[in-house]
Amino acid sequence: MKNVVVVGSQWGDEGKGKIVDWLSEQADVVVRFQGGHNAGHTLVIDGITYKLRLLPSGIVRKNKISVIGNGVVVDPWALLEEIEEITSKGVTITSENFMISESANLILPFHREMDEIREDAAGKGKIGTTRRGIGPAYEDKVGRRSIRVMDLRSEKNLDQRLGVVLEHHNAIRKGLGKKIFEKEKLKEELLNIAPKILKFSHPVWLKIDKFKRKKMKILFEGAQGILLDVDHGTYPFVTSSNTVASSAATGSGCGPNSINYVLGITKAYTTRVGEGPFPTELKNEIGELLGERGKEFGTVTSRKRRCGWFDGVLVRQSIKISGISGIALTKLDVLDELDEIKMCVEYELDGKKINYLPAAVEDQLKIKPIYKTFLGWKESTKGIKNFDELPENAKKYIFAVEDFIETKISSISTSPERKDTILIENPFEI
Ligand code: GDP
Ligand code: IMO
Ligand code: MG
Repeated sequence: MKNVVVVGSQWGDEGKGKIVDWLSEQADVVVRFQGGHNAGHTLVIDGITYKLRLLPSGIVRKNKISVIGNGVVVDPWALLEEIEEITSKGVTITSENFMISESANLILPFHREMDEIREDAAGKGKIGTTRRGIGPAYEDKVGRRSIRVMDLRSEKNLDQRLGVVLEHHNAIRKGLGKKIFEKEKLKEELLNIAPKILKFSHPVWLKIDKFKRKKMKILFEGAQGILLDVDHGTYPFVTSSNTVASSAATGSGCGPNSINYVLGITKAYTTRVGEGPFPTELKNEIGELLGERGKEFGTVTSRKRRCGWFDGVLVRQSIKISGISGIALTKLDVLDELDEIKMCVEYELDGKKINYLPAAVEDQLKIKPIYKTFLGWKESTKGIKNFDELPENAKKYIFAVEDFIETKISSISTSPERKDTILIENPFEI
């Protein structure tokens, strides 16, 4: 059995889409298991760019099965829009190559509105969410009042379920002085699109069991990053799901023993979009340069991403928390022009040195990074596909990172293009 989970080891946007697309050549099935359309995964294939939000990154390849697991929150309109958009680029999406769990929870318009209302009301204290309704939808899931894909099957059932969830939301909306949400109109709209969603709906756990029995290779595609995990991230500045690798099991309905290798996608520097602590953030011309060279604008919201030096302490922590077996180091080429490159190897908190990120936000905001400095290589690495061709100083930086995070760098990405990737150790062959 050879199944691989891909997760982001920082605050998201590490290049998961590019690596999943590249690896999916070897996989039979690609599964999204958490998050929703807050994700934005970019694929560049022979100059054509695909931006995927809900669809797994295997969708662009022929003869692969793409799966949305039960752990994903699905805005049905966003999904249909994305299917249309990607289909218009020549990709075939049918009930043969795409399926969605009947147990996936829906994001409905009142979730998006609640996300907006809260963010607007929070002022400076806002999370900086993607405003897609992710948090409110997961709250309703855990609150046991959510509408799931399977609820779209019968008008009677949908009516009852909508009654339950709207009773809750309308009480809050009334309290906030907002208009109450009408059930009938929403029910009608949902019933209208129901057949378009239900044709993809399956008990995904059963399908995955079949794939496993047939010895098909499964690639699980995480969204966001470990530092946005609701338990292990920089809470409360996190997303509302577990982004760690073990979520692949719960979010698709297979056990943890279905996972053989966890690949952590790691940017050669650090970015973050939205609010929250960021110890190595560079609010200077180097940060600007990283943003420009790395084209660091949000795939989903177009917001400028905050940029900073590589934080070895954070990545080492993510590796331990998520059980990462190997690292795909991305965007090395973005560092090409720098005279020197820094890696955070320790923090200082109240005059004391610490080697992990403290859990309290007030401490996270106070800590000062301690850096190790490396000489830049000042030549282009863009498009390099063999490790040996990398400049000596780039190799030194890579070895130092590997050493510090105590984990093998198993691949290196040197441009957004699928083919511009150095393979060192194949996750499917370990
Ligand atoms: P994801 O959310 O982890 O899939 O990452 P995003 O797609 O949101 O952001 C990563 C961005 O970096 C995208 O624009 C990718 O096309 C781009 N990218 C990925 N790998 C590389 C790389 O090695 N070099 C450069 N320059 N860009 C890359
Ligand atoms: P991918 O999969 C980067 C961030 C938001 C915000 C926080 C909470 O492309 O790496 P949410 O809308 O989830 O409630 O927002 O999480 N965030 C991401 N940042 N990449 C993502 O996804 C993200 N998904 C959510 O910016 O700080
Ligand atoms: Mg992204």
